[in-house]
Amino acid sequence: MISGAARGMGLEFARRLHADGYTLSLGARNARALAEAVGTIDGLDDTRVLQCHYDAQDPDTAKAWVDRTIERFGRLDALVNNAGILRLHQFDDYDEAKFDEVLDVNLKGPYRLTIAALPHLRACGAGRIVNINSRSGLLYRPGSADYNISKHANMALTHAARHEFWEDGVRTTAICPGPVATDMSADDIAAGMEVTQPGSVAAIVSMVLSMPNTASIPVIPVCCDLNAM
Ligand SMILES: NC(=O)c1ccc[n+]([C@@H]2O[C@H](COP(=O)([O-])OP(=O)(O)OC[C@H]3O[C@@H](n4cnc5c(N)ncnc54)[C@H](OP(=O)(O)O)[C@@H]3O)[C@@H](O)[C@H]2O)c1
Repeated sequence: MISGAARGMGLEFARRLHADGYTLSLGARNARALAEAVGTIDGLDDTRVLQCHYDAQDPDTAKAWVDRTIERFGRLDALVNNAGILRLHQFDDYDEAKFDEVLDVNLKGPYRLTIAALPHLRACGAGRIVNINSRSGLLYRPGSADYNISKHANMALTHAARHEFWEDGVRTTAICPGPVATDMSADDIAAGMEVTQPGSVAAIVSMVLSMPNTASIPVIPVCCDLNAM
């Protein structure tokens, strides 16, 4: 399962994992955008791709997506919590509704999906949870307090899941990139700046999923510049 698969990194993960031979359950808010995105996957085998509705701000869609995945494929091996939003704002520009939205997408959504997916991840004996976190989950980045708080909390969620379900064979990893070339960072990337490509993060996701239970990586910082971490 990959959340936020209709564009950005989520779509790149779908492309990479499809090419690796995985069967995919893709979650997105906009069915049409998802269908169009799936149509761009090279050599698409649509018997291996399920498209589902997932909106992190609609709690019921988390379990409904897991249920549909199990109904269609009968098992679940990995959950990639990718969907996320960034809010750039001054620290004292506090807005309850906007903060709630950031927490819903970056923290509560992944938490709900983890809980819904857990029985199935446990059942397979080598379940994987990959949380697409951020450099902002490791270090404070001025100008986006809501985002930083949500990503630090997402890191705590990663550690919690890693500890709680280790004995069941479930391995949880946080991937923490700096700037990646997607819509999210488009306004933030200065002209000529070299940043991480989504395909590189997809290669890391693929590697994490392929690791045995005895070679699990808790946190992966990903840097495009020397001083990033
Ligand atoms: N780009 C970066 O520089 C960067 C760096 C570090 C970490 N990250 C993290 O990487 C992840 C992917 O971001 P990206 O760079 O691919 O950004 P993006 O291109 O802006 O994509 C964001 C994705 O999240 C989905 N999403 C947003 N709100 C949602 C909601 N309420 N319910 C379900 N899905 C929702 C979007 O779906 P819609 O198409 O429906 O909007 C989209 O698929 C995020 O967790 C982000 O925090 C990004």
